[in-house]
Amino acid sequence: MGVDIRVEELSKSFGKQLIWGDVTLTIPAGEVSVMLGPSGTGKSVFLKTLIGLLKPDKGSVIIEGTDIASCSEKDLYEIRKLFGVLFQDGAMFGSMNLFDNVAFPLREHTKKGESEIRNIVMEKMDLVGLIGAEDKLPGEISGGMRKRAGLARALVLDPEILLIDEPDSGLDPVRTSFINQLFIDLNAQIDATFLIVTHDINSTRTVPDNIGLLYHKHLAMFGPREMLLSSEEPVVRQFLNAQTVGPIGMSEEKDADELAAEKDIEMPPLPPIPLQLEPSNGIPRRSQRPAGEWCRTNGITPPPGSFESSNAGLTPGS
Ligand SMILES: Nc1ncnc2c1ncn2[C@@H]1O[C@H](COP(=O)(O)OP(=O)(O)O)[C@@H](O)[C@H]1O
Ligand SMILES: [Mg+2]
Repeated sequence: MGVDIRVEELSKSFGKQLIWGDVTLTIPAGEVSVMLGPSGTGKSVFLKTLIGLLKPDKGSVIIEGTDIASCSEKDLYEIRKLFGVLFQDGAMFGSMNLFDNVAFPLREHTKKGESEIRNIVMEKMDLVGLIGAEDKLPGEISGGMRKRAGLARALVLDPEILLIDEPDSGLDPVRTSFINQLFIDLNAQIDATFLIVTHDINSTRTVPDNIGLLYHKHLAMFGPREMLLSSEEPVVRQFLNAQTVGPIGMSEEKDADELAAEKDIEMPPLPPIPLQLEPSNGIPRRSQRPAGEWCRTNGITPPPGSFESSNAGLTPGS
């Protein structure tokens, strides 16, 4: 069913360097959320703080009533069982074949026998489309297959929460579309809470139910996809539409001269909001909302051409 993650006033520094401060948001249960942000804004640090691999300086991360920022090691160990994590590089053991890599958490954390382990591993390999590749070594397969194997491993303990770090890094656009479709199909099947960290704008525009943007040491905005894609807030608007005009410069923030030079340049109009990617079997996900619903209920006129299938971007079967 998935559980929600309540993040309250969370701050993280390394030494004197503040990474981000006062981050407050609730990642809704069972929904797909994306955390977006320029490279180096602390997206990976955010994920690691959510599973308690890094301790925040301040604030709390509440999962099923336990604050993992302050709980005991024993409680943390229990809470971690709710998580499946796909790290940026897939983090496969190079000398183990895919079967053993995927079986690893089951052999490590459960007392299941080998025949049950085989059933679970094959079920997850099937979910990610890797049946037949069990005997391959990570070094023998493509980056896209490695990510799918990492995903199968993240799924073997039936997580309530899946954290996924830059699934699209190093993948070509076609493989990125396939893995995005896989996330949506998986979310429909397992109903877990998905949090995907990325800087890929195309994926962000079409995949998630919710979008967050980390920028300049704070959370600029977090909310439903349509809210951010229709937002006029300069940072959100610039980042989600990959524009050069706006407060974000080549290295973090623009200085006053750069901003003054742009003050008469109009921001281009917002592009249409694309349709959200749907499960490939056509059966809606539990958390899927009708196209345009958020805009309608909030009295926002979406940009012209929004939600037309010709502007869908990534659609099932495309
Ligand atoms: N263990 C660590 N010790 C010190 N600094 C770190 C550590 N991990 C990350 N950082 C710093 O935190 C910042 C954010 O890193 P990261 O979360 O990897 O960014 P992103 O994933 O958004 O590209 C970077 O400046 C990085 O150097
Ligand atoms: Mg990162």
